[in-house]
Amino acid sequence: MKVICMTTSKGGAAKTTNTVETAAALKILGKKVLVIDIDQTTGLTKYVGAYYEPDERESLGIKTIYDILTGDCSVDEAILDVECFDLISGDERLANPQITFNKEDDQYLLKDICEMLEENGYDYIFIDHGPQKDLLQKMSYIASDYFFITTLMAENDRQQAKNAVAEISQLQKSRNKLVTGDVYGFIVSRVKKVSLSDLAISDMENEAAIYKENRSVEPRIFTIPDAIAIAEAQTFKVPNTMAHKSSNVSRAYYDLADYILEIN
Ligand SMILES: Nc1ncnc2c1ncn2[C@@H]1O[C@H](COP(=O)(O)OP(=O)(O)O)[C@@H](O)[C@H]1O
Ligand SMILES: [Mg+2]
Repeated sequence: MKVICMTTSKGGAAKTTNTVETAAALKILGKKVLVIDIDQTTGLTKYVGAYYEPDERESLGIKTIYDILTGDCSVDEAILDVECFDLISGDERLANPQITFNKEDDQYLLKDICEMLEENGYDYIFIDHGPQKDLLQKMSYIASDYFFITTLMAENDRQQAKNAVAEISQLQKSRNKLVTGDVYGFIVSRVKKVSLSDLAISDMENEAAIYKENRSVEPRIFTIPDAIAIAEAQTFKVPNTMAHKSSNVSRAYYDLADYILEIN
């Protein structure tokens, strides 16, 4: 079982989209996949049509990642079977994690949850965190085996992507080696045929080369085309990699899924 985190500390950089589309592709390829939405905005849970208002959840008995983290339910009780993969849904109560999870060892909570999930026979667990550089992001980093740094083409997005690599590297080097995972790829999303995308790609290639020198893992660069079909997927609540397997954007995600199978 491998835990995968698509990451950067910026909202709107396609983390959730890349997570949903790649996870669904791996499921289609026959793998057992679970996705954990640990973002208080619950964007991923909504993307796959599994969102319920808090009072609805209460009456339907639906549990979330918040209920697991706070010890209010078992891991198994919170697993939802949505069409594209298994899901542990997000929760608004994840706002202010530093206050809710204030014990030293709480940073390991998500890693512990992933270890418990190993018994359920999952091949891959994806963690989708929010845009904040907070404790939930740190928990996600500690729990993960593979990182995919996500960026759009703009300079600010690329800078945030580099910051995420720096953050991961710092935690890898920390005295108690908080992070044991590695960066296996950079994903440049919403690519159009303009010179800015060439610049973004070569910028990330450069980052990958630096990473290889330090960690002897060479991250691969992936590009995801800008596609109107992505907005459609969110409207119809079905990932593109399920609904339109041979579209351009889906093929890009299947390449990424194949690579994940390869490095395993
Ligand atoms: N390849 C793409 N083509 C077109 N729109 C995209 C693509 N990837 C992401 N988007 C759009 O960009 C926005 C932000 O994506 P999202 O995955 O929610 O980012 P994040 O999780 O990093 O905040 C969403 O509206 C999404 O539909
Ligand atoms: Mg998101």
